Parts: sequence; C-alpha cells; structure tokens
Amino acid sequence: MKVLVLGSGGREHALCWAISKSPLCKKLFCIPGNAGIKSVAECVNIKINNFNSIKKFIKKKKINFVIVGPEEPIVNGIVDKLNKLKIKVFGPNKKASILESSKSFAKDFCKRNNIPTADYKKFKNYKDAVNYTQNINYPIVIKASGLAGGKGVFIIKSKFEAKKTLGDLMIKKKLGMSGKEVVIEDYLVGEEISCLALVDGKNYNPLLLSQDHKRIYENDKGPNTGGMGAYCPLPYLKRNIQNKINKEIIEPTIKAMNKEKRPFSGVLYAGLMLVKGKIYLIEYNVRFGDPECQPLIFLLKSDLLKILNNCVNKKLNKTKIKWKKEYAISIVMVNKGYPGKFKKNSIIKNLNLINDYETTKIFHSGTDLDNQNNIIATGGRVLAVTSRDKNFSNAKKKAYEVVKKIKWKNSFFRKDIGFRAKKLK
Ligand code: AMP
Ligand code: GLY
Repeated sequence: MKVLVLGSGGREHALCWAISKSPLCKKLFCIPGNAGIKSVAECVNIKINNFNSIKKFIKKKKINFVIVGPEEPIVNGIVDKLNKLKIKVFGPNKKASILESSKSFAKDFCKRNNIPTADYKKFKNYKDAVNYTQNINYPIVIKASGLAGGKGVFIIKSKFEAKKTLGDLMIKKKLGMSGKEVVIEDYLVGEEISCLALVDGKNYNPLLLSQDHKRIYENDKGPNTGGMGAYCPLPYLKRNIQNKINKEIIEPTIKAMNKEKRPFSGVLYAGLMLVKGKIYLIEYNVRFGDPECQPLIFLLKSDLLKILNNCVNKKLNKTKIKWKKEYAISIVMVNKGYPGKFKKNSIIKNLNLINDYETTKIFHSGTDLDNQNNIIATGGRVLAVTSRDKNFSNAKKKAYEVVKKIKWKNSFFRKDIGFRAKKLK
C-alpha cells in the first residue's frame, strides 16, 4: 500500500514510525510532517487544510490509504470528501465528528442516551450564563463548546472568575467562534483516564487504558495544555474496569451514534473520570490522543497498518491487537511559556544520546530543520521522550535520563509524569 498520514505532531510521528515498519507499507508520505517524521516518511510541505492540494497529491502519487491524525481536517469533512473520490481513509466522517466539535452536542447526546457525565447547563447568551453562575456552588467547569486545541476548558473557583471567563469567551471571543456557546458543568474529583477504542461502525477494539497529564505544572497545577505526558497501561486499575467502560461508555456510544444516523468509524477517544468506582465521560475526541498515542504505539506488537486497514474494511471483529507486556511512558518537552506565548526556533541538541534505541524513542511534535540542518523547536509541544520496560519505574527512569541529556535551553517539562501510578501500586 502507498500510505499518507496527515498531521505534524508526536502522535503522527508515532503512527508513521509504526506504519513504516509494516510489510504492507510500500511507500509512506506525511503531510506536512516534522523533522522527526522525515526519518520514517517522505514529508510533503502542504498545509493540512488545503484540501485541493492534498487531493492532487494523492492522485499524483496513487495513494491507497489515508490516515488523518488531528481533529481539524476531520471536523472540516476531509473523510467525506476523500470517500467521495473513492479513496480509503481512516477516520470518522463529519457527521460523526460532532462528538468532538461540539461539547454541547456531546453533553446532550450523553444525557439522552444515558451515558454518565457531569451535570451541566449550556448557554448561547452571555447574560443568562452569568446569571446562572451567581447562585451555584463552586468549583465549576466552563467549557467553550467548539474546538479549542485543549485550551477551552476552565476550572472556576468563584463567581467573579466565572464572569470574567464568560466575558472572555462569549463577548471578547478570545477563542473565536468556539466560545460563542458554553457548557457549564459540575466539577468532578477523581482519577482521569483515557480509553481509546478503534471502532468500525459496529465492532470495536479498545486499546490499553492510558493516563494523560493535562496541566502544565507538577501536581496537576496551572492551565490546561494539550497534554504534558502519558503512560500505559495503568498499573493500578482493577481488571474489570475495562469491562465497565465498554458497557457503560463505549458500547452505548457506538449504538447511539448508529441510532442517530451518525455511524462512527475511526478512533473513539473517551476522556473519563473515575469517581469512587463510578465512571463519567468528560469528553469525546474523534482521533488518537496526543501524547497517549505515543506510549500506546510503543507497546503495540501487532501490525498497525493492518489493524487500521481492517478497521476501515469493517473487520475489527476478526482483528486481534497484541501488546508487549510492558509499561510505556512519554515525557512531553515543551517550549518554555507554552500554553501561553513562547519563543520559537531555539536549537535542540543531543537527540541522539540514547542508550538503547529499542526501548527508548523520541517522537517529535513541533520541530523543523533550520538552513544548517539543526533541529529547531517551532511549536508549543516539541518532543515526547518515550521509554518502555517491564517495570513501570524503570520505564520512567529511562525516559527522564534521556530528557536530561537533551540540550535545549528553552525547554520545559514536568518532572512528575506518572505520579498517580505510584500512589495506587
Ligand atoms: P476536556 O477538554 O473536556 O477533556 O477538558 C480538559 C480537562 O479539564 C480534562 O482533561 C480534565 O482534566 C478537566 N475537566 C474537564 N471537565 C471536568 C469536570 N467536569 N470535572 C473536573 N475536571 C474536568
Ligand atoms: N491528550 C489529550 C488529547 O489528545 O486531546
């Protein structure tokens, strides 16, 4: 197969890395890719939302299979458009992607289909939203309903803060049209876990459960980010939890999407909160998580390309996914200042100082090459240093040892990725 992966993050680097090893892959392209992806795929400099150029490229290179990484092109309908041209694509269509593109839809969907989620109210009118926040208990969570790249969720501790946040979203439009409608929901305290499941419309195959670290600072402090580190599987969870997630979240979601004529195919990402043994859906995403994808892919034993192809061909019921019996962990290194403003184009050195390339891998996100072939940091999230080992603490130790060797002045990373795993061991 000639394969094209769309995207430029650590998630896409991990996907390309695994796909490039598949015997089914004759040639691998990535649009636009990054400095790390270049070592496993031919990167092509086309903007991810330039559908016409992507289409021309696919035709010219006779590509057989397209895998869409990020949510934006999915939500803009790239899967529908490529399907119309009879091109095989992994990812949900526009109608199904509403699970991620509208939090307001997702909450109502959960409610009418008895999928457990935090109680909520939704507002399109600023005054109504502010009025509602005057006489309620805090903390609450205010969410922009539309896509916000992980930056549209605010944990709010007082009515003053609520008013300011609502003003920023609904009046000042700081997140553009994403904030014109907001969801205000109860704040849940518990253990957050990510369940990613491959879905082929009807059948599904859950991947290992993983845990992200959304906040920028240690001990889960500071603003939300796209994700500062992840690990899998979860060393502390009871075996039956996956069953419970399947029965209470994944299966009802797939069934209800079919009932509502929005059949889902691709990766269904359920962001969950475990509260005293009860599971709540916090958010849906319609693609692989980043950074969850990196440790997941690092533990995958089966042929990723074959699995994704089976998923598109609606054969997940005949597909077994095999995993290495180890733990994997990714430490995300970001540009200092992220998720706010940060300096771009600082040089990163020592990326080759890894003791064992079999069990550690650096997946690139926002990287590029300058005109002297130095690797430079161009994005907010820049590297995901990923290690695996039979022992969780060793996996973590290995990853942090590599992080320490990387010479990059403008870097920032959390030193406590995996801290929740410890407490429950
Ligand atoms: P979301 O984009 O909806 O996943 O929200 C981003 C992050 O905000 C989540 O991963 C949680 O850490 C946090 N969060 C969202 N909703 C809630 C909630 N109802 N209670 C507590 N934390 C939440
Ligand atoms: N790691 C969170 C996400 O991919 O949305």
